[in-house]
Amino acid sequence: MLFRQLFDPKSCTYTYLIASGQGREALLIDPVRDRMNLYQQLLDELQVKLLFVVDTHTHADHITASGLLRQQYGCDIAMGEQAPAECISLRLKEAETLNLDGISLKALYTPGHTNDSFSFLMNDRVFTGDTLLIRATGRTDFQQGDAYKQYDSLFNKLLKLPEETLVYPAHDYNGMTVSTIGEEKRFNPRLQVSSAEEYANIMNQLNLAKPTMMDVAVPANLKCGL
Ligand SMILES: [Fe+2]
Repeated sequence: MLFRQLFDPKSCTYTYLIASGQGREALLIDPVRDRMNLYQQLLDELQVKLLFVVDTHTHADHITASGLLRQQYGCDIAMGEQAPAECISLRLKEAETLNLDGISLKALYTPGHTNDSFSFLMNDRVFTGDTLLIRATGRTDFQQGDAYKQYDSLFNKLLKLPEETLVYPAHDYNGMTVSTIGEEKRFNPRLQVSSAEEYANIMNQLNLAKPTMMDVAVPANLKCGL
């Protein structure tokens, strides 16, 4: 298996390139439009065939490269069935799998950051989008975000995975690249709560500024970034 974690410094987004060693079939999770040249170069150099682009949710802080990648490579664009964009070609349901040659990703519906947030489980690792970040969790104050739903997604789904499961988030602002479920259970300050109410209180008092790109990014992402 080929696995690459790529970083967009402007939005602090992680993009993941996964490819099978056998058929050289590949997928990209959360690609950023500004980084299109890098993906083209890498797909070319590594000689892999892009079959799927997956967005974990409708992003508000960067524009997806999904539409450009589909134009270039004819790949499918996959998102959760709740995603509002009409340009998506594969609408995933809870527990559905995306299959490459010898690799499968299981879709886990983990709403809360947005209503269309999914995580993707692949063997020993989980791609958590903005649901579970390293030592943080994704904000819940826009795009039908809901702190109670996020509590449920975290405590009744993601944190039930084996403790050694690697956590690969969609963003990091502090230089961290990967964590584990066990590590987050112990050290993530937002997870040291004893009830959904306590969690919602923390989330509802964050008072974060609106993402600067939001008014541009959301409408663009409803058209797969085109
Ligand atoms: Fe997000």
